[in-house]
Amino acid sequence: MINVIGSINLDLIGRVERLPKPGETIPGQAFSTTPGGKGANQALAARRAGAPVRMVGAVGADAFAGEALMLLKESGVDLAGVKETTTPTGTAMILVDNEGENVIAVIPGANAEVSPFDVETTALAPGDIVLLQHEVPLVTVEAALRSARRAGAVSLLNTAPFHADAAHLLELADYVIANESEFDLYASELRLQGPDRETRMRSFARQTGRILVVTLGKDGVVATTPDEFFHVPTLRIVPVDTVGAGDTFCGYLAAGLAEGLALEGALSQAAAAGALACLKPGAQPSIPLRKEVDEAARKPPAA
Ligand code: RIB
Repeated sequence: MINVIGSINLDLIGRVERLPKPGETIPGQAFSTTPGGKGANQALAARRAGAPVRMVGAVGADAFAGEALMLLKESGVDLAGVKETTTPTGTAMILVDNEGENVIAVIPGANAEVSPFDVETTALAPGDIVLLQHEVPLVTVEAALRSARRAGAVSLLNTAPFHADAAHLLELADYVIANESEFDLYASELRLQGPDRETRMRSFARQTGRILVVTLGKDGVVATTPDEFFHVPTLRIVPVDTVGAGDTFCGYLAAGLAEGLALEGALSQAAAAGALACLKPGAQPSIPLRKEVDEAARKPPAA
């Protein structure tokens, strides 16, 4: 079972030709709402990859909640651990331009109410996976990492979004997943030494005994265990909208590890899923089904 303890949002998305500068007003092209939140996106990705998934989180008692949970419900994610609060459902204001670049502002709302008590009431079994991000209170993330260790579960921490005061959490997770800019910021917080990123990654893995994964966008993904370093390429695509691509990667990676794939194979499948997620607009609507990922992986790489 994959247990995702994380955020659930409704994404309010504006399409614009280009992103506005501070203080500037520009005309937009289209508006849409889709379910989002890093936790919920990762839960859906793991479910679409074929894993049984349980979501622990919170939504408000409002009109946004139903829409925010809609795709998780349809896909069969267990939502018994999602509570209703008097605080409104979390929202994300997202602008996406014609190149697929985006800016996002998240209002946590009910996500700020996900507490260590919610972790305590989540029964974890040995061999379970616990998948976490930084969009619920860090005290809850820490409680979940410690609870996973006590239960003999495997923890995956996606370090997004960056919080300087979350640096101490990285060594508590079995797998740490960061994008390149997040890793560089954590490396500086943790004073990891070395002339380049690879050396600093290896240094983290050796010091902590953990597995560290750093996503590089179109250049694929690099990962290190205390003994081995991998570079896994990804599919070549022209992105339409990258929102949710990192979440798709994390959910697929958790599912791959849950089904027993070796690290390199799980990374390769997750990288392909993340690339496919860039081909459609919206976070959750763009998460590919397992059969689409398998099909893409069978095609020879474009020259
Ligand atoms: O990672 C993408 C997600 O970040 C969006 O769905 C948005 O809700 C924000 O949480």
